[in-house]
Order: sequence, then structure tokens, then C-alpha cells
Amino acid sequence: MAFERNAEHFVGYVMQRPFLGCVSGVPLDQRTCDTWGDILNFQAHPEDILVAAYPKAGITWMQEIVDMIYTDGDTERCRRGPTYDRHPFIEAVAPKPVPSGLQLADSMKPPRILKTHLPVQLLPPSFWVQDCKVIYIARNAKDSMVSYFHFQRMNKGLPDPGNWEAYFSKFLTGDVQWGSWFDHVLGWWKAKDQHQVLYTFYEDMIEDPRREISKVMRFLGKDLSEEVLEKIYQHTTFQAMKENPMANYSTMPSFVMDQSVSPFMRKGIVGDWKNHFTVSQNITFEEEYKRRMEGRGLIFRTQL
Ligand code: A3P
Repeated sequence: MAFERNAEHFVGYVMQRPFLGCVSGVPLDQRTCDTWGDILNFQAHPEDILVAAYPKAGITWMQEIVDMIYTDGDTERCRRGPTYDRHPFIEAVAPKPVPSGLQLADSMKPPRILKTHLPVQLLPPSFWVQDCKVIYIARNAKDSMVSYFHFQRMNKGLPDPGNWEAYFSKFLTGDVQWGSWFDHVLGWWKAKDQHQVLYTFYEDMIEDPRREISKVMRFLGKDLSEEVLEKIYQHTTFQAMKENPMANYSTMPSFVMDQSVSPFMRKGIVGDWKNHFTVSQNITFEEEYKRRMEGRGLIFRTQL
């Protein structure tokens, strides 16, 4: 890979959780806000593929699937580097020596597989100008909230989540990095009618991963054999990715992601919210959910 992140690069480095700034009302890492002009000006290539999601919807899973489809099921090529080096995260800005998403993208030749958590209204316009294909993955809000809470606990690249009760309120009001789950899933839902956006659901992938992999393959204009599709499925199961250092973020230094606090590949199920939500939180949640989602035509499943 073009950039190295060996432990010696970080000797003496003290990791601090980031401050949040704001772009058009959306809370983002202050470092992203500071370079916002460059990010907005990102020049996509028509052959680039963008994988987009609200945090914790299963984007890493989708990235691995897309990489496998692009390499015609070449598992070795998909082990060429960790997820975060293979697929530039366009709005990511980390302390040196870690390259920014833009630097990483610039170091690669199209077609690139790019990643974003940006809400649709903040997407660099060149993706639309170039008519790029976008794969959006959405996950039900309850499981997204639980997964994001644990991720913020273990990932020092994000703000401290506080306790579960406090986090519950912050998530519902959108006072978290990348903003409101509601705005995100609804904004991209609308965009799919105007652009080349394949809107997928985490719950559908859990229910029938082979079906969803085939759907992504067709959207990307590929026609792979049943044998290759099976290889892609086997390579992207929860267990296979949990054991794959190039997909499980274990290569990220532990002072950034402390997997002893909570593993990146945590549970990978639908319905873990039932182990976290109190009865009264569930009532509060359902009221807010109804207020925001009723009549919008976007249906999520919170259990299978
Ligand atoms: P949990 O925390 O609920 O386990 P993202 O990649 O967007 O950060 O999302 C991470 C979530 O997707 C985590 O959810 C993780 O376990 C789950 N995930 C990642 N790969 C998966 C796979 N192959 N199958 C099922 N779930 C997966």
C-alpha cells in the first residue's frame, strides 16, 4: 500500500479524542471541518464506486463485498491492505503520519472504491456530476444506536459517548458525529430516485447474504459465476471477517481502537437493541421514530 502506519510512526504520540465542529448544521470532526473546502471539491472519476452509510450500518461488510466483486473473487488481492487503506474514507482527516482520505484517494488510480459517512446534502457534487454509482447501506436505528455507542467507547478517534442513558438522548437528537440517523437514511432514500444509488439494508444482508451480494454484483454491471459468488459469500461472513486482520481493524493501533473495550466485529446480529433499551427508552424511541418516519415510505426491520 502507498502509506505505512507502523507502530514506530506513533512513538511518543498521545491520542486525544477529537473535538466536533459543524458543517451546515451537521456535527463533524473539527479536522474535517477545517479542510471542508478541499473535501467538498473532491474530484470523483466516473468509474469510482462510492460506498455510503450512517456509522455502524455495516459499511465495512459492504466494502469487502464490493472489493471481492471488483477483483472477481480474488481473496489474496482483497488482503492487499486493511480496509481503511484499500478504500479511502473521503472526509477522514487524522493526525500525521496517517494520510487523509483525500491524500489516499489521490494516490490511487480509478476505479477506486471510496467510503463516506456524509449525509447526502454534504456529498462532494462531483459524484453526481460524474454520475458515479453509489451503494448505500442502511441499518435500523435501534441497532445502529447500540453499535455506535460501543464503537465510540472503543474508538478514540470519536468523541467519548458518555453512559448509555446520555447516549440514547444524544443519538435521538442527532448530537453525534455525522448527525441525525433520521436525516441520513431519509436523505439518501430520496437521492436514490435521482441518481445511481443502490439502497440496501443490513437486515436484508443478514437475512439472505447471497441474494444481496448478487444484487450488488448486478448493480456494478458484473456477471460472476455461482462459484465466485459462493467464494465472496464465504469470505464476507461475520466469522470470516472477524478472523481477517485486513477486515477487522486489528491492524489499527490499540491506542486508537481498543478492541478489549469492545471488538470492531462485535456481534453482527439484528436485535441486539433488546439487550440495551429499557422499556421506557423504547417508548420514547417509538414516539420519536413515528414523528420522524411516518409516511416517508422507508421501512426498517428491528428483528427478523
Ligand atoms: P455490531 O456492533 O452490531 O456487531 P460499520 O462497518 O459500518 O462500522 O458497521 C459495523 C457493524 O457491522 C458491527 O455491528 C459489525 O459487527 C457489523 N458487521 C461487520 N461485518 C459484518 C458481517 N460480515 N456480517 C454481519 N455483521 C457485520
